[in-house]
Amino acid sequence: MPTRLRPPAMPPTGPGPPCGRGRPGSLADPLLARSRPGDDNGGVTTTTRQDHASDGRSPWTAPSARTSVGILGAGELGMALASRLLGTEYDVRLATRRPAAATAELIAPFLPGVTAVGRAEAYACDIVIAAIPLRRYRSLPAEALRGRIVVDVMNHRPLVDGPRPEFDEDPRATSEIVQEHLPGAYVVRTLNHIGAREISNDSRPTGEEGRRALAVASDHPAATATVSVLVDALGFDPVDAGPLAHARAFEPGTPIFHGRWTAEGLRSALAEAL
Ligand SMILES: NC(=O)c1ccc[n+]([C@@H]2O[C@H](COP(=O)([O-])OP(=O)(O)OC[C@H]3O[C@@H](n4cnc5c(N)ncnc54)[C@H](OP(=O)(O)O)[C@@H]3O)[C@@H](O)[C@H]2O)c1
Repeated sequence: MPTRLRPPAMPPTGPGPPCGRGRPGSLADPLLARSRPGDDNGGVTTTTRQDHASDGRSPWTAPSARTSVGILGAGELGMALASRLLGTEYDVRLATRRPAAATAELIAPFLPGVTAVGRAEAYACDIVIAAIPLRRYRSLPAEALRGRIVVDVMNHRPLVDGPRPEFDEDPRATSEIVQEHLPGAYVVRTLNHIGAREISNDSRPTGEEGRRALAVASDHPAATATVSVLVDALGFDPVDAGPLAHARAFEPGTPIFHGRWTAEGLRSALAEAL
């Protein structure tokens, strides 16, 4: 039976901001740029748990310290993620543009147990999930997020956000644009091709037959690995989609975005799309 993955221990650092144990510099610094498309498998890697270890545990699993997750946004998705992470080993913080006390008041009826913080504290977490409208991505502060893993769940939704030439006219994946805005951060694209309600409805234990899979793309393999553990803890099979450019394959309008996939099906769909 596969063993449940646990959040990785973050490397020890000196005194740091209140959320997390300081900047995960020694995690981030060795992150080498992923080889670009053109790898012999088209750049789609399949670094699943099973691929790495026969005992079902991942080599990046290092259970000892609590990894902090700062969620930016208390909308449908931010709340769903925070709710699902309650009871896991992650230390979850949630922030909006409001002061922490106002966010606390907002979330208290729905998420007792989740700590509301100001944005600065959320930026200081080990993993920062940007669950805000994509049109606001420029409000993400490049300096404060330097060295952070930033999970980009933000989709370009013209019907909600209106036309956005900066995305409509740019052939890149929107996450590449976000990464360009945050040059010192390790942007990971995932959790965008699942609805907020499905986060709890479709969540299944590790190893369960037919478990839903979610693609994970980043130019930083160690960040992909770290976020894959988070995806597993949320109840989904992470499938490494390769570099951030591959995230185009699971943006709105694509078959992957609008479908439900097992890991095997998702790997095939990615290979076909890329
Ligand atoms: N809903 C889904 O099912 C779903 C699924 C996949 C992906 N997504 C993506 O996830 C993102 C969030 O979607 P949603 O439906 O949860 O949106 P939403 O309901 O509009 O909520 C957005 C939240 O972000 C907060 N916010 C806005 N700017 C912020 C900033 N700069 N810093 C911190 N918080 C900020 C807002 O609170 P204040 O205005 O009070 O700050 C609000 O709580 C979108 O990009 C969407 O495309 C959504």
